[in-house]
Order: sequence, then structure tokens, then C-alpha cells
Amino acid sequence: MARKAFLFFYIQYSQDKHFIIFSFHSLIPSFYHSIISPMDQYVLRDQDQREIDRLGFQHDVWRTESLRLLDLAGIGVGQKVADLGCGPGFLSREVADLVGKNGEIHALDSSERFIGYLEKYVRPNGFEQLFPQQADITQSIPIAPNTLDAIVMRWVLMFVDKPDQVIQHAYTALKPGGTFAVMEYFNFCEIKLWPSSAIFEEVYKAVHQLLGSFGGDADLGGKVAGKMKQAGFQVQEVVPIYKVGKTNSPLWQWLERTSVNHQNLINANLISEAQLAAYHAEWHQHAQNPHAFLQAPPVMITIGKKPLY
Ligand SMILES: C[S@@+](CC[C@H](N)C(=O)[O-])C[C@H]1O[C@@H](n2cnc3c(N)ncnc32)[C@H](O)[C@@H]1O
Repeated sequence: MARKAFLFFYIQYSQDKHFIIFSFHSLIPSFYHSIISPMDQYVLRDQDQREIDRLGFQHDVWRTESLRLLDLAGIGVGQKVADLGCGPGFLSREVADLVGKNGEIHALDSSERFIGYLEKYVRPNGFEQLFPQQADITQSIPIAPNTLDAIVMRWVLMFVDKPDQVIQHAYTALKPGGTFAVMEYFNFCEIKLWPSSAIFEEVYKAVHQLLGSFGGDADLGGKVAGKMKQAGFQVQEVVPIYKVGKTNSPLWQWLERTSVNHQNLINANLISEAQLAAYHAEWHQHAQNPHAFLQAPPVMITIGKKPLY
């Protein structure tokens, strides 16, 4: 079956059958890896590099919003910062530039292959202030308590099954007065095409449901402020971001590149073969229309501060 792009997140593709898709079990603390990575390996394989390239492209598309996250977090020279769930570290590298050589950016991820990539290819190439570390952040953040000036997170909490625990660990690791900056989707089903498309919306509703059935939450961005307050943070900023792109814009290409194996939506009885065919036809038709638009799922930036006393 032709696999025609889109639907995103790491409900990721498996053209070469190397990625195990949807082997998630609710007892596994983080389902992210059971979805995208069959075996964490230090040595990069072709599909690892493709995934890193895709995340790099995603970073470029969302860079303006991500720099806003770092700006609102007040990241600056000499600070000690952590990026939790850093992936291949595109956000960490922006932080590294901001903190400079006298600062520290601790890039934490549960993926051995992302951490290996950072150690082998990124840190030795001008990023000595970047310290990669493998860690399951739902279990702990292996950094001394009360030592971080800031923690940043982008598109991670939506994938973990215990976001409250992660937020509590973040609270512990931050200095009094330290900043916690989070960027996540909210109201996910607001993803839209224009001219509007009922089948597009149906398919994304199915993606939302599928993610939820694995313990994830594509609307988590709307809940972070409440969770931060519960953990003891003072919420300083809640900034919703809407992003729209025309046919063939970087945003359009981003959705095209972020493929999913749609068959999984069918296997889970969330859509039918006929709906999938209609979806592909609709996307193709919109792609021919130079005046069509894509509205991405809205993103929420939430900034919390650990009180001084
Ligand atoms: C969507 S990617 C985002 C990567 C990066 N933050 C970015 O914006 O490019 C989600 C990342 O979260 C990591 N992750 C998921 N669950 C985790 C956990 N429990 N502990 C540490 N990292 C986790 C995954 O390995 C993956 O690299």
C-alpha cells in the first residue's frame, strides 16, 4: 500500500520494517520508544539518520516558536540548563549557543542512540558545554537537586505516561528561582485544512484517539499550567501559538514528512480502508491547490518559576 505522508508524531513509519510500531504495553513507562525504536543502538543506521534529519527539519520549521520558548525562559550566558527528552538535541544546541562556553546544557533522553549520537557527533564539534546523559525522566533526573537555572522541554510530556512525576522531578532539580519552560500541543484536533476537509479531521481525530489509547495525551499543553501549580511552581506565562502554512510551505512539508503507518489506524478500527483512500485523495487534491492552507495543532508555551522561598 502506498504510504502517502503525514499524520505525525512518532507513530512512525516502517518502510524497511526496522521500526516496531505499536508494540506499546501500558506497563512500559514511556511508550515513545516502543513506538519508534526497536533497539537502541549506538551506531547510527540509515533509518536513524533519516529520523534525525526529520527532527532537524522539524526544528527548522518550529525554530521561531522554540526561540520564543528559550527567550521566555530567560536562558542566558553562564547558566546551567537541562533539556529533558532532548532527542538528537536540536533544541539543546540552541541552548548551548545561549549559555556559551561557561554555561552547561544537560541533554537527557532515554534513547541510547540519540545520546550516543550527541556524544559522538555533536559534543566534539564545538559543543563542549553540552553534556548528554541517558535517563528515564519519569524515574528521576540525575542532576543534583537545587542546581539548575532552567529546564526546557519540547514535545516530550505528551509521550510520557507520568507527566506529573516528570514535573515534580523538574521542581526538585531546579534552584529556587529557577525556570521551567514547556512547549506542547493542546486542542490537538484543531489541526485543519482549508478549504476545510471533513475526512482530514476524522483521520486526525483517530490519531488523537490512538495516541490516547497508548497512554499519551496530545492535548497536554493545555494542562501543564495546572500541573506546574500542583507541583509548587508559580506560573508566569501561558502563551498559545497558532501556525498556518500554504501548500508546499515548510509547515506543509513538515506534515508530509512526518509520516505514520496509517494501517495502524485501520487495525485499531479507528478508520476504514475507504476513509483512508478518501483521505489520500483529499490531501492530493489540496496539494494541487496553491491557495490551500494547513493549520498545525496549536502549541502552548508554559513558563513556571520555582519560588525563592
Ligand atoms: C518528539 S521527541 C522530541 C525531541 C526533542 N525534545 C525535540 O523537540 O526535538 C520525544 C523525545 O522524548 C524522549 N522520551 C520519551 N519518553 C522519555 C522518558 N521517559 N525519559 C526520557 N526521554 C524520553 C524520546 O526518546 C524522544 O527523543
